[in-house]
Amino acid sequence: MNKIIFVSNRLPVTINRKNAHMEVKASSGGLVTALSSFEKMAKKVWIGWPGVIDRRNKAEAEEIKELLHEYDYKPIFLNRKQIKEYYDGFCNETIWPLFHYFVQYGIYEKRFWDTYKTVNQKFCEAVLKEAEPDSIIWIHDYHLMLLPNMIRQRMPDVKIGFFLHIPFPSSEIFRLIPWCKEIIDGLLGADLVGFHTFDYVRHFAESVRRILGIEHTLGQFTLGSRAVRVDTFPMGIDFQKFSKAPLEAVVKNKITELKREIGGDYKIILSIDRLDYTKGIPNRLNAIEHFLDKNPKYKQKVIFIVVAVPSRTQVEHYKILKEKVEYLTGKINGKHGSIGWTPIWYLYRSFEFHDLIALYSIADILFITPIRDGMNLVAKEYVAVKNDGNGVLILGEMAGTAKELGEAIIINPNDIEKTANALKKALEMHINDKVARMRSMQKRLKRYDIKKWTNDFMDRLGQIKDVQKHIKSKVLSVQGKNNLIKDYSKASKRLFLLDYDGTLMPFNENPANVKPDKEVTEILRNLNKDNRNTTIIVSGRDKETLESWLGHLSHGMVAEHGVWIKNGSWKTIEKLDNIWKDEIRSILEIFVDRTPGSFLEEKEFSLVWHYRKVDPSLASVRVGELKYILIHATANLNLGVLEGNKVVEIKNTGINKGRAVRHWLDNEDWDFILSVGDDWTDEDVFEELPKSAYSIKIGFGASKALYKLDSYKEARELLKRISLYSY
Ligand code: UDP
Ligand code: G6P
Repeated sequence: MNKIIFVSNRLPVTINRKNAHMEVKASSGGLVTALSSFEKMAKKVWIGWPGVIDRRNKAEAEEIKELLHEYDYKPIFLNRKQIKEYYDGFCNETIWPLFHYFVQYGIYEKRFWDTYKTVNQKFCEAVLKEAEPDSIIWIHDYHLMLLPNMIRQRMPDVKIGFFLHIPFPSSEIFRLIPWCKEIIDGLLGADLVGFHTFDYVRHFAESVRRILGIEHTLGQFTLGSRAVRVDTFPMGIDFQKFSKAPLEAVVKNKITELKREIGGDYKIILSIDRLDYTKGIPNRLNAIEHFLDKNPKYKQKVIFIVVAVPSRTQVEHYKILKEKVEYLTGKINGKHGSIGWTPIWYLYRSFEFHDLIALYSIADILFITPIRDGMNLVAKEYVAVKNDGNGVLILGEMAGTAKELGEAIIINPNDIEKTANALKKALEMHINDKVARMRSMQKRLKRYDIKKWTNDFMDRLGQIKDVQKHIKSKVLSVQGKNNLIKDYSKASKRLFLLDYDGTLMPFNENPANVKPDKEVTEILRNLNKDNRNTTIIVSGRDKETLESWLGHLSHGMVAEHGVWIKNGSWKTIEKLDNIWKDEIRSILEIFVDRTPGSFLEEKEFSLVWHYRKVDPSLASVRVGELKYILIHATANLNLGVLEGNKVVEIKNTGINKGRAVRHWLDNEDWDFILSVGDDWTDEDVFEELPKSAYSIKIGFGASKALYKLDSYKEARELLKRISLYSY
């Protein structure tokens, strides 16, 4: 069995110093409750912060380690500065507000960021101490977004999963963070990055595209030879545990006790959250006030129990919120309460499991109204507890849970009027309606529970590792290179079909700046010194440029993606016409005007729209539009539309690099052929090659080539070895 290493900022338990001894308490928050179901796993460790300030007291640290050892928890100790700058600072004053769209609360402090890096590094060292090559490392949440890549640098093949428990915001917001690129790089160190909802996946993929310029295919990014998957895993709860809990004697006693304390026949409307500004508590209180204003008949009939769990008490906006909530509660109780009836029971504390179940059980309505919430497990737990179906869930639409629990009464937390109406609707809902809604939600939560969630995540992690293995199996290995050189050395008639941009030379924003450099010139010169070699440059560029740059360095050339071939002199493959150009040019010009950064290149028999400098999101929309328009515009014109590397080219159909290289393939008997290329236009060449030929794609996208190499640098390295062998 593989060892599983959970890593999260907070351990499932928090240590409190109580006079001379240490007290161990369950931590609060959804991450910890949900993942606590893994307690029973055999081979696991959990690395995280036990919630105490590191006082550099060795004896105390040892005592904590000892205490946590029995749970397989490995504590990470944070000192005062790290708590202030990493936990309170970067995590909860930069990432938390921004990722929850509270942009106005976000602070961008370089020293917070530096400490965030230091603490992530500290976690990395702790993971490395525990990890074995076949371990599964599962990292959780926004505190540790740099950790996946830090571990990847040290253990290139280990399995790493990352799950974000909070929303991932729109790329427009994410880009506000000055260190957004480092964060994306950090996350992409994982093999699998999971989110609660598809919206968060979409936002993340968009950020990767805008910041790194990398596209995904069906949720898979290819980074060098590594594939990274991004996917949706709506976190579930331990359904059985919550649904059975009300039947336990201890809970039954607590329910009786609670009912006795409340007295009278009141409808109970419950809300439970950490005291966090994302949870929409003030909005909720305003809605309660409005409800009581509008529906005086419910006075003395309902009680609102508002549980606010203390959270991040050192952070300014949490302090302000506490004052605001206390002020509003006091105001509403003063305005609507009477002797013997207090409408809002405000409880600023946390409850342990059995008390919580008792609260859920007595609640006629659960009233949850976050402004933003990654998921919200309280809502799911309430549904699971309501075995008899007699309960109503009112849920804010900005909670991730709202995507799954559509049978709840869904409200916009900023709409006070409708939220107040929702309360009335819930109070007056017919029992049959309540039960029907509850049953549908329960069915779903039961099916996709925390076990299914974990298995799903682990399965996908395994699948992406298989994809990586497959990709790696196509990489031209050291042995493969040796075989290639051996075959080359034995051959006496050798053909090289070499693409230029992206294969021999790197890309540049300005294509005119990609003249062959010293190394490429030397490689081609050396290859050509051996008269058994024939080197052909197979390019999309115009023939004039190719002639002036490479005419003296090759035996033949293909220009304009196969329109022209040079074998001694230049000629077209067949008689081509240009009459279509005016019509297509006018379409492309409109696209140039509408798409900043793009430009039009006119070649003798083709037109090319270049978009390398265009914002990647806009580019992908425009390419789609352009292709759609061109399908219609070229229908009767015998034209083909070809997508290259950040270019769309229009030229006569049937003309491609593959057809052009037939000129050499068909006319001689080659006993060694090597073809190297990087984009879609080179696939036509690979397709024409005989079985015995070596074909190499630069990059790791889909290809018909037999082998792959990472970049033009590796292609050069290989050609250099071959060219030196010639002597
Ligand atoms: N919780 C608890 N005691 C409390 C209040 C809440 O144990 O007094 C638990 C609750 O059962 C839930 C978690 O805290 O599992 C809160 O998770 P949620 O996703 O609702 O919100 P988060 O705090 O993670 O933002
Ligand atoms: C949210 C976060 C968790 C966090 C919890 C409690 O659920 O996603 O990562 O542990 O809040 O917050 P705290 O700052 O107390 O750990």
